[in-house]
Amino acid sequence: KEDVYILGIETSCDETSAAVVKNGRKILSNVIASQVDWHQKFGGVVPEIASRKHVELINPVIKEAIEKAGIEWSDLDGVAVTYGPGLVGGLLVGISAAKAIAMALDIPLIPVNHLAGHIYANFLTGEKIEPPVVCLTVSGGHTDLLYFNDLSSYQILGRTRDDAAGEAFDKIARVLKLGYPGGPRIEKIAREGNEFAVDLPRPLADQDDYDFSFSGLKTAVLNYINQLKQKNQEVPIADLAASFQRAVIDILITKILKAVEEKRVKNVILSGGVAANGRFRELLKEKLNSMGVGLYYPPPILCTDNGAMIASVGYFLLKKGEVCGMDLNAVPNLRL
Ligand code: KG4
Ligand code: ZN
Repeated sequence: KEDVYILGIETSCDETSAAVVKNGRKILSNVIASQVDWHQKFGGVVPEIASRKHVELINPVIKEAIEKAGIEWSDLDGVAVTYGPGLVGGLLVGISAAKAIAMALDIPLIPVNHLAGHIYANFLTGEKIEPPVVCLTVSGGHTDLLYFNDLSSYQILGRTRDDAAGEAFDKIARVLKLGYPGGPRIEKIAREGNEFAVDLPRPLADQDDYDFSFSGLKTAVLNYINQLKQKNQEVPIADLAASFQRAVIDILITKILKAVEEKRVKNVILSGGVAANGRFRELLKEKLNSMGVGLYYPPPILCTDNGAMIASVGYFLLKKGEVCGMDLNAVPNLRL
C-alpha cells in the first residue's frame, strides 16, 4: 500500500479536534469543535469544564473526521494523539480514545508533542517546502529556533533564556494599559508611532549563538516609563509601542538570518502567535526575499489547535518507527 492515512486527535486545551491526513501533507478532513463559548464567561479555560466537554465531543468529532475524509476505518495506518503539553484532563480524554481505536483496529499508537504539531502545520498548506528549513516558533510560552535537515527530525539551535517574546508583548501591553492579549494591541497602536523614537537595547542580538533574551528589553521599557513619570512627562504610547515592537522584531530577525546563512537553508517557516505580527512578517520577508530564501507560515485555521497538525507529525514519527504502547500517559509540561 502506497498511501499512508493517519488519524490525528487533539484535546490539549479547549478544542476537541480529529483529522485524517494522507502521507503527512494532505488534509482529507479536519473537524474542530471549539468550546470557547463555554469558557468565555469565566474569562479563560476552566480545566474541569474542558475535560467534560472533551468527553462529550470526542466520539462524534472522530466519527465525523472519518466520514468527511471518505475513508473506511480499516484504511487507517495509525492513530496520532497529543500527549502534552496541555491540561491533563483533556489530554487523557484524547489519549484514551486513541488507545481504544489503535487497539480495536490493531494499528500503531503514535505519541505527538503538541508544539511539534504547531510547527508541522506549515507542511499542510499544499506548498512544497523543501528542507533544509529553519523554523522560529514564537508564542506566549516559547521562543525556539529550530533547524530541519529533513522533515522528519529537527535540532534545537537556541531558545529564550528568560521570557518568551509573546510574554514580553503581553507584559508591556499591560504596563501601557492596552489590554490582553498584548501582541495584537501593541501591533495596532504601533502603526501610529515611530519605531526609532525610543532607543531600546537588542539583548543578545550580536552574540554568536542562537539564544534569545527579552527580560532586559522589558526592564529598559519600564525604566524609560519611570523616568518620564518622575519628570511628570507624558508617555508617548504609540512611539514606545512601535520602538518596543521593532526591538523584538530586530532580535528575532537577526537570529533567523544568522541561522539561514550558517545552515545555508532555502526556506524559513514560522509558528506561534507572535508570528501573526504583520510588521514582523513584512520586515522578515523583505530580508529573505533579497537573499532568495522563501518564507512560509500556516493560514489562520491551521494556526489554532487542530487534529490535522497532529496527524502530520504522526506520519513522520511512524516513518521513523516512533510509536508507543498502551502505557502512554499525559505529560502536561512536555517541552520540544
Ligand atoms: O501561539 P499562541 O496563540 O498561544 C500560546 O502562547 O500558546 O500565542 C499567543 C501569544 C501571546 O503572547 C500574544 O500576545 C502573541 O502571541 N501575539 C502577538 C500577536 N498576536 C498574538 N504578538 C505580536 N503581534 C501579534 N500580532
Ligand atoms: Zn496550541
